[in-house]
Amino acid sequence: MIIEPRMRGFICLTAHPVGCEQNVINQINYVKSKGKIDGPKRVLVIGASTGFGLASRITSAFGSDASTIGIFFEKPSSPGKLATPGWYNTAAFEKQAQEAGLYAKSINGDAFSNEVKEKTLALIKEDLGQIDLVVYSLASPVRTDPTTGITHRSVLKPIGAPFKNKTVDFHSGKVTEISIDPCTEEDIQNTIKVMGGEDWEMWIDSLKTANLLAPNALTIAYSYIGPELTEPVYRKGTIGRAKDHLESTAFTIADKLSDIGGNAYVSVNKALVTQASSAIPVIPLYISLLYKVMKAEGIHEGCIEQIQRLYSERLYTGGNVPVDEKGRIRIDDWEMRADVQAKVAALWEEATTENLPSIGDLEGYSNDFYNLFGFKVGGVDYTADTNEVVEIPGLQ
Ligand code: NAI
Ligand code: NA
Repeated sequence: MIIEPRMRGFICLTAHPVGCEQNVINQINYVKSKGKIDGPKRVLVIGASTGFGLASRITSAFGSDASTIGIFFEKPSSPGKLATPGWYNTAAFEKQAQEAGLYAKSINGDAFSNEVKEKTLALIKEDLGQIDLVVYSLASPVRTDPTTGITHRSVLKPIGAPFKNKTVDFHSGKVTEISIDPCTEEDIQNTIKVMGGEDWEMWIDSLKTANLLAPNALTIAYSYIGPELTEPVYRKGTIGRAKDHLESTAFTIADKLSDIGGNAYVSVNKALVTQASSAIPVIPLYISLLYKVMKAEGIHEGCIEQIQRLYSERLYTGGNVPVDEKGRIRIDDWEMRADVQAKVAALWEEATTENLPSIGDLEGYSNDFYNLFGFKVGGVDYTADTNEVVEIPGLQ
């Protein structure tokens, strides 16, 4: 079929398999171009099909020849029905991994469930024996607690007072004022349940109990801080509370891993266009201004550049892992540079529908968004008849 983008609100309903494949190949080539990393050999990535998780899987495999198991929640393809991008990404990744002689298997299902955890444990036992690195990179709006059976929904809201600021609809380019009402106490607890550290700890507990974590095993999860501008709706809002919880869970897990010489980290990453971040109000305007400034400074990075730098310059240098005063790894260091933030803040004051295309990188934002779904990727023939059905070779 001929596959075209079909947008609805913050999502794209279609995905292009060849475009997704090209994105993955580009990321693999980037990692290879940076040379070998003396990194982990057996890696479990939870949330492995898009964004930072996919970049982590690619960096593990093609940066340090790791065997990888990827967990994700994606819609498969079938005749006449397109898969979600993460499915096509994973199919492309596994194909490349196989060609390179690298072990790669995947499990598609709800990572929050006991069932997927059990299936993963059995696969590790059978195939890899133990794991050297567990990457926890889930972004989800819902979680069913496997113990209580209750389904929790996360919200993106300020705490205590309404938040009024500018935002942009990145499809139309319209800059408008938005006002978001504050959350309830229940919203905070639900958001922590979904995006906090509880499930990360459950994964590590079950892996450790089954003796599936190798000596000196590491685990890492991803967090975000960002500028003062977005604080009310991000870091000091409901999602920020969940990130606080995730960050404190790293210490709890680190304690639990100390007897095997292991450790747990949170890495604070840069704001990037992913399916998760496009849904957060105000963030797209911030990102479009940030991209403009960082590109002008020559310090712009995407997910793959971020994670390659995380591995090669933070986690696997052979020396101590550098962390901030709260024990967090910072690869948002260039985003948070004072000069970058000052420029973004000044542009923010000025931003209007009329000037955003020139003072901000609206085009870069939009392009990245299309890229997430395999569209507007260089070198892909979008007029070609494309097979929508793609298999993941190592799917369990
Ligand atoms: P993403 O939406 O690209 O990836 C989410 C992944 O989780 C996908 O692989 C998806 O299949 C998987 N997933 C979602 N629900 C699942 C479930 N129930 N079971 C199994 N898999 C499931 O998101 P992104 O942006 O890569 O986010 C990953 C982490 O990075 C999150 O913790 C996010 O807060 C963090 N982060 C994101 C930043 C950004 O700007 N995008 C910046 C800094 C941190
Ligand atoms: Na991810």
